[in-house]
Amino acid sequence: MRKLLLMLTVALGSLWMVFLVLQLDTSLPLDPIHSHSWLEYKDYDFGPESMCNCSAIQQGDREALQEAKLLTITKYFRKTIQIPDEYYINQAQDCRKFKSERKYITFPLSQEEEDFPLAYSIVVHHKVQNFERLLRAIYAPQNIYCVHVDKKSQPSVQAAIESIVSCFPNVFMVSQAVSVVYAGWPRVQADLNCMADLYNSSAKWKYFINLCGQDFPLKTNLEMVRMLRSLKGGNSMETEDMPAGKKWRITTVHEIANGTIKSTGKSKSQPPFNLPIKSGNAYIVVTRGYVRSVLEDTRIQALIEWSKDTYSPDEFLWATIQRIPGVPGSTRPHPKYDQTDVNAIARLVKWWWHEGSQDSAVYPECQGSHVRSICVYGAGDLQWLLENHHLFANKFDIYSDPIPVFCLEKYLRHKALAESEAEDFFWSP
Ligand SMILES: *[C@@H]1O[C@H](CO)[C@@H](O)[C@H](O)[C@H]1NC(C)=O
Ligand SMILES: *[C@@H]1O[C@H](CO)[C@@H](O)[C@H](O)[C@H]1NC(C)=O
Ligand SMILES: *[C@@H]1O[C@H](CO)[C@@H](O)[C@H](O)[C@H]1NC(C)=O
Repeated sequence: MRKLLLMLTVALGSLWMVFLVLQLDTSLPLDPIHSHSWLEYKDYDFGPESMCNCSAIQQGDREALQEAKLLTITKYFRKTIQIPDEYYINQAQDCRKFKSERKYITFPLSQEEEDFPLAYSIVVHHKVQNFERLLRAIYAPQNIYCVHVDKKSQPSVQAAIESIVSCFPNVFMVSQAVSVVYAGWPRVQADLNCMADLYNSSAKWKYFINLCGQDFPLKTNLEMVRMLRSLKGGNSMETEDMPAGKKWRITTVHEIANGTIKSTGKSKSQPPFNLPIKSGNAYIVVTRGYVRSVLEDTRIQALIEWSKDTYSPDEFLWATIQRIPGVPGSTRPHPKYDQTDVNAIARLVKWWWHEGSQDSAVYPECQGSHVRSICVYGAGDLQWLLENHHLFANKFDIYSDPIPVFCLEKYLRHKALAESEAEDFFWSP
């Protein structure tokens, strides 16, 4: 009798094991050791974008670009790129399925990346698809992501993003969201709140990168890690003398009323400690030490207080902190250490007044459209984008042209998997 019971237990145990293995098999690759192909984007993963030839577009092939342009203006195309927020809310109910169907990379692709985690702040207010595809492109399990959704966003946007975020242990919503006002202080506060949360929630990450919903990477996570290591503890961002034409931003008091910023006409006091105010932009790549200074250095606390009633503090605060002696990764205030956005690695942007074919232009003309004088990239910009050293570029908008994002996704995923194979680093289940 005892023997029979034992045999029964063993038999049941084996059945259970078989069941477990079968369970695993449905979500894991059959042969992860020899192929990552189950993580490759295939044409059927996508909508009508898959009709274009990305490798030809990447090489600037005129015919392929013409075809892409024609495709983006068809009614069918315009309609299929619209994905309702409810779709994400429903899809992310089953996180396991969502991550596997959307082909998120849920294991580190190399030891080198695992040993060098990054921290991201992502500030968004609408267009959930832009956010989800950005997240997927930069997602790695060793990194950490703070998402700030504008307090005045549509409830469905908030709900969709919360659903997606809830699927990942290392992605979280900011503890305190603010209502962002264009060119106003709250834009900086959104990043500051994420910085504080990220600093507090993990002691491991090495660099901080801030993003918005219209950014997209130009490099794989491994390439980013290597470029960041080569900064040798330095930060990278635009930081230059403030042009005379922008001085009014910091010499007059501004206030936010009715959701917009305006001058009160009053003069502002000098900056604290006579800190030289530098000019830059909202996007930075900084060390953990820089973030610690932002949160703890009393000079910076005073500078932050002083900046709250200026115009567009996001375009001078980070750049100014970068030149304060003693801040980790900073450079001296001397103009010889000035850095332009083109030379920094944080963000690649095309401003329309710098575009053109003449020698005096900074970059070739935008092949997409413009929003507030900034290029929203078209397929024709892809070749140029990939020639640059920046980690990220701005602006992309799937709703106005999905092809640049589609082609970048394929390019980066292919590259990341090839790098991982080359590293000969494989995960063990
Ligand atoms: C895409 O373009 C490349 C390069 O121009 C070409 O070699 C390839 O055959 C094209 N693929 C398709 C499916 O048309
Ligand atoms: C950091 O976390 C601790 C508890 O884990 C909390 O008491 C503290 O207020 C947090 N600090 C910030 C700046 O969020
Ligand atoms: C705020 O804006 C609304 C609509 O634009 C306007 O009707 C209202 O008068 C404004 N209020 C103030 C205090 O400016």
